[in-house]
Amino acid sequence: MRRPIVAGNWKMNGTRSEAATLISGIVAGVNSVNTAEIVVCPPFTLISVVADALAGSGIGYGAQNLNVHDVGAFTGEVSGPMLRDLGCTYVIVGHSERRALYGESDDLVADKFRAAQQHGLVPILCVGETLDQREKHQTEKVIIRQLDAVVDTVGIEGFNKAVIAYEPIWAIGTGMTATPEQAQEVHRFIREKLSGLDRNIATNLRLQYGGSVKGANARGLLDQPDIDGGLIGGASLQADEFLNICRAA
Ligand code: 13P
Repeated sequence: MRRPIVAGNWKMNGTRSEAATLISGIVAGVNSVNTAEIVVCPPFTLISVVADALAGSGIGYGAQNLNVHDVGAFTGEVSGPMLRDLGCTYVIVGHSERRALYGESDDLVADKFRAAQQHGLVPILCVGETLDQREKHQTEKVIIRQLDAVVDTVGIEGFNKAVIAYEPIWAIGTGMTATPEQAQEVHRFIREKLSGLDRNIATNLRLQYGGSVKGANARGLLDQPDIDGGLIGGASLQADEFLNICRAA
């Protein structure tokens, strides 16, 4: 059985006091969530505020990015050992905003995936196509390329301790959610593809959907057989809305 996992990607939002308010709202409602594992990924500056507030809550936390190096002259960067030092358990790698805005290639994303695991962090690997790629029927091709880079670097065994988030880029922050059927189709494709390499690993791997998930549309998506949770952007910045999604999982 795959335990559903709902993660909030706060992106570049929040002061320390805003984060304290948001996280205390989430902690206050955690008892109403029965099954899902809950994770929040705040910006680096807010991780320690969140860590303190989450102590004993059962809610996990992680970061949105990491550098592939452990230490050294890499101005402005944050490494896996630093995230472990803060008590992070998860880290998002290959978010489409990092791929598109900061030029992260499939190979760099794969190296980040490996760096995360080397330091005991569970990578949440984001994959997904643009609208143009979808319209040209290239969705599967794009996802194969994104997955293959990681498989080539860490092997299929790397997916023993990882999460994949399918985030169609056209659905991120646009209010244009994939339909449950569209999302399920790609999730099933991802699981089948990895199943060809290792059936057991693919069966146990948790696949999140991300892209304009809200309380109102979460259940239809999360009811799909290959959707095991969500990676939530905008709606994770409101405690009630985030908890509604967690309850739907
Ligand atoms: P939205 O939920 O705001 O569409 O963002 C999705 C996302 O990018 C999560 O990583």
